[in-house]
Amino acid sequence: MAAKLIDLSFTLNGRKVKVQIAPDTMLFALLREQGCASVRCACETTNCGLCTVWLDGDPVLSCSVPAARVEGRSITTLEGLKAESEALARAMAAEGAEQCGFCAPGLIMNVLALARAAKEDPSLVATREEVSRQLAGN
Ligand code: FES
Repeated sequence: MAAKLIDLSFTLNGRKVKVQIAPDTMLFALLREQGCASVRCACETTNCGLCTVWLDGDPVLSCSVPAARVEGRSITTLEGLKAESEALARAMAAEGAEQCGFCAPGLIMNVLALARAAKEDPSLVATREEVSRQLAGN
């Protein structure tokens, strides 16, 4: 017998979304279904950071978040941060820091979260070691 579907409403990159999902749907799969190609899943074990998105402005690993938990909440993916992410991608390219690009979305989401936090509270400017620790998952 098929599992009963769950009604779910949330905001995705500023747009209201209403869907029905299976109870075991994970957030990364839902976001991919919604056309967010930047959200990728590799390890599915919370180790690689590739699936990072923002949940109410905070980075989360979408491979470990049941989609049902985002009811009424706000999700931001790289598609919702085009201007900021393009500037960072250009800076990475200028420094020779780009590689194949597969893991870039998760890394960029975490770097932009750090940058936003530091902008909101300048006392949060991190040291090189702190940034390294914050990005260790990527
Ligand atoms: S897919 Fe690797 S942390 Fe989510």
